[in-house]
Amino acid sequence: MNEPALRFYDEQPTLSNLREEVLRGLARRPRSIPPKFFYDARGSALFDAICEQPEYYPTRTEMAILARHAAEIAAAIGPDAWLVELGCGASRKIRLLLESLRPRAWLGVDISREFLRGAARALALDYPWLEVHALCTDFSEALRLPVRPPDGHCVAFYPGSSIGNFDPPAAERFLRCVAGALGAGGLLLIGVDLRKDPAVLEAAYNDAAGVTARFNRNLLVRIRNELGAAVDPEAFDHRAFYDPVPGRVEMHLVSRRAQVIEIDGRRFAFEAGESLHTENSYKYTVPGFAALARRAGYRSERVWTDERRWFSVHLLRVDDGG
Ligand code: AVI
Repeated sequence: MNEPALRFYDEQPTLSNLREEVLRGLARRPRSIPPKFFYDARGSALFDAICEQPEYYPTRTEMAILARHAAEIAAAIGPDAWLVELGCGASRKIRLLLESLRPRAWLGVDISREFLRGAARALALDYPWLEVHALCTDFSEALRLPVRPPDGHCVAFYPGSSIGNFDPPAAERFLRCVAGALGAGGLLLIGVDLRKDPAVLEAAYNDAAGVTARFNRNLLVRIRNELGAAVDPEAFDHRAFYDPVPGRVEMHLVSRRAQVIEIDGRRFAFEAGESLHTENSYKYTVPGFAALARRAGYRSERVWTDERRWFSVHLLRVDDGG
């Protein structure tokens, strides 16, 4: 089979980023490592498997919203867009919009190189009329587009409520940075998970098949395999719970016994029950998220939700002064 035409821009963070951030994260109290390090090829595949779990409602609910309102979303965005998909993963969601939206080009951005390459290649094969670009980078720090449309409008797509993995001040900074990359008048279509019954939230992050637990432990698998650390991932329990005060699900790895993780001769002693905080997943109300977007330099154009109001998809426009 012929290789499809696609442009690949590789700015994948080096191993030293992982090493530095893991060493810093293990030394601080409480101990924490940023969730972006879940996503090597295995972590991305595990995340895909999480999305298939019956308890993990966000993917299914967001996809149903996109499928149901595809024509309206496309009409609100307009044709010939330059579509920038942030954290595109396997890029299943964008497929729900492509035929209605008919963008000129798609630029997928993700931290997981091989996963991104596969997703971009599949899109280029399935949509021969689409110009396909892929950028492997850590966009949580800064976003610089390697290509810009000569004309036409820039539209970012950030599905999956990944915005919830930033704490609100960082989410605001991140959205401001996306606004800067899009330019005045640019659009952002963003999926945002909503507050709901804590039992539903806690089940979503504690699936019965244990996929989320494997995803969480994948961080320790990477630390062992890539940093040469002496650590047994199975010696840590997966723990996820909803804290209604900040409105977030927290994910932790809890040490089953007293043990030491050793990296580069540095020793990090864990007591039994001591935790390594690996992820926050903030949940919003529709007005709460719209207010955050306003502070970040956008105005809200449209919001779509499902019937249970479990998930929301917002169309935001970068303010002229944004
Ligand atoms: C990618 N992100 C939005 C997911 C979430 O729900 O916070 C990651 C995840 N963590 C555990 N399950 C899914």
